[in-house]
Amino acid sequence: MELNKMVGKPVSRLEGTAKVTGTAKYAAEYPAENLLFGYVVSSPITKGKILNIDISKALAIPGVIEVISHLNRPKLAWLDIQYTDMDAPPGTVFKPLLDENILYNGQPIALVVAESFETARYASSQINFEFQEQVHQTILERNLTEARAPKKGLATALKPPPPPPTGNFEEAFENAAVKVASEYRHGTEHHNPIELFATTTIYEGNGKLKIYDKTQGTINNQLYVANIFGLKYKDVQVLAPFVGGAFGSGLRPQYQLFLCVMAALHLKRNVRVVLDRKQMFSFAHRPPSIQLLRFASDINGRLTALGHSAFAETSNFEDYTEPTAGWSHRLYAAPNTLFEHQIVPLDVYTPMDMRAPGGSTALHAIECTMDELSYKLNIDPLELRLLNYSEMDPSAKKPYTSKALRACYLEAAEKFGWSNRNPEPRSMTRGNKLIGYGMATGIWDAFQFPARVQAIINREGKLILHNATTDIGTGTLTVMTQIAADELGLAMEDVDFQYGDSKKPFSMFQGGSAITSSTGVAILMAAKSLRKKLLKKAAQMPDSPFRKADDEMVYFSNGSLHLKENESAKISLKEIIAFNKGVAIKTTKMGNPHMIKLRKYSLATHSACFVEVEVDKDLGTVQVTRAVSAIAAGKIINPKTAKSQISGSMIWGISKALHEETIMDGNLGKYMNANLGEYHIPVHADIGQLDVIFVEEKDELINELGTKGVGEIGLVGMPAAISNAVFHATGKRIRKLPIHLDDLI
Ligand code: MOS
Repeated sequence: MELNKMVGKPVSRLEGTAKVTGTAKYAAEYPAENLLFGYVVSSPITKGKILNIDISKALAIPGVIEVISHLNRPKLAWLDIQYTDMDAPPGTVFKPLLDENILYNGQPIALVVAESFETARYASSQINFEFQEQVHQTILERNLTEARAPKKGLATALKPPPPPPTGNFEEAFENAAVKVASEYRHGTEHHNPIELFATTTIYEGNGKLKIYDKTQGTINNQLYVANIFGLKYKDVQVLAPFVGGAFGSGLRPQYQLFLCVMAALHLKRNVRVVLDRKQMFSFAHRPPSIQLLRFASDINGRLTALGHSAFAETSNFEDYTEPTAGWSHRLYAAPNTLFEHQIVPLDVYTPMDMRAPGGSTALHAIECTMDELSYKLNIDPLELRLLNYSEMDPSAKKPYTSKALRACYLEAAEKFGWSNRNPEPRSMTRGNKLIGYGMATGIWDAFQFPARVQAIINREGKLILHNATTDIGTGTLTVMTQIAADELGLAMEDVDFQYGDSKKPFSMFQGGSAITSSTGVAILMAAKSLRKKLLKKAAQMPDSPFRKADDEMVYFSNGSLHLKENESAKISLKEIIAFNKGVAIKTTKMGNPHMIKLRKYSLATHSACFVEVEVDKDLGTVQVTRAVSAIAAGKIINPKTAKSQISGSMIWGISKALHEETIMDGNLGKYMNANLGEYHIPVHADIGQLDVIFVEEKDELINELGTKGVGEIGLVGMPAAISNAVFHATGKRIRKLPIHLDDLI
């Protein structure tokens, strides 16, 4: 019978060896003949105008080919026609080198193109700019009077506004038996994947371009380039077979892509543009935010009112929104609710999605407020969650397709040893360290995008699959290979999943923890179609035992088609193709979310996080000594890569709670720690024991695979669990992130 199922096995990444040995190539590593190098000049001022640019000294340097600014930018077909991308928030997309106006610090204001990177970089220091500076505003707190609701746009489907109010919140809160009102502040965070943003454009002539780009969306960037430069879609190929991390920063085409393509088309040469680490701080950040939470309950701990008002930064040209305010009502029922999300436009670049955008910001505030409430009520924090546990989604008044959050709470609490906790703050110690136990809930969306897959059985009887998705390091290649291998009864080695290329069948950008469900379902559809075709062909073979067989009577295993009733009746895929005169059998199918059926349900993944911290009594230093995350995310295709996703996210949670923050100087309008020396991220010594539990969650409604996505859910609960543990250890409620040692002494 059916052997060696790969789905559910902890398979190591297929591209792992290529990555750790350096043979995997990234966007800036592809060789190209007579390659030119572009270096981006960034604005040193925050707001104003460029009055004059003197490029004569730069141009005189041997090896410098061109300095392109708004004064001499080539009049290619761009800027005045459609200029947008699939992830653009409502507003006007920033256009590099459009005119003399400076909208934010670090804005690209020129591109130096030279024979070498070093020459281009040196020449960039020899350009004289004359600026006229204007007054700028870059501090959220100082501009709250400018707060307004975001405009609606295409992205509203993925980032819906918070649900409308219910009951009478103000009255209920006013008269509540027990209540907490708290304000939470989050600093700015910047994306810093290890692979820098880079583009290598191969100029193929006749308007044709082959572009190696650091991106999460090959097709998104292909459409963007074709649209703004007036090229034919089919003439633009965007390739990103390996991506060295991204987590939201690559959802939108970034300015190095635009500048690189512009230079290649203008000079009719191959061009590479690599941004440096400092420039990473000019286009990819999670916005700072202020959240006001007001939760109330009756004396027994039943929630009666939920209020959440969020204020977050955006730019002066786009309305970026992190969906923050509505999450508490997706977890907890309460008759009176009030949710609002407002944005404050500032002289900064547009913020963008950063792992669990909105969710990780919101759940920190929500789950810390629940912790505060538990202390007011004198109820164990876990008990309070269980008391207010909702099987359905109260905000939408719909059932979840599945919700195994209760199992998350119980299994994680057991593994962690939550029952050993003395609830009294500062009551648990270990030598000179205060010990704190904290817990929190996580929730995240379970998205699925439409995707198309081509599947081919070739004359060797091997399966080749094509889809345009990237693998940003999540294990997509491995997971897709596992799914496909099982569907056609093949060994992993006989499946070749080809991806990372805009010429391949459609995939949305890789975001929202959605690609396993999206491309994975498309593989199921393509495999089903292929099995039918193979059976049909096998039935036509001389003396075929499959002549009268239908789908139900056969199975695919060990590279062959088998009859269920008769173990010895089998034909290999190789024989079927040989009978087909050696011509490969192929199919292309779409995987689609069941929009209509799923309208009756709410879709989400859940988690429970339990954290132990040690806080040094004298120094205030915090160490997360151990953490347990239990995750309910439907079917887990590969427990090894899924665990890597969750532990990576847990580390990001530690980072968000205790380390990461970009510091804005309001006078200069500039980030002061735009480098990995001063932008603090955890190192090995900051990470203790991390345990991940995947609870059983069978979901037959969500999609044909039963998967719900395992990336972002690992992050959302952690910051609150850490903050709550810090409170338990020290008795100090720090309502801002990151928490620093000086907050605790
Ligand atoms: Mo992620 S913020 O969905 O790339």
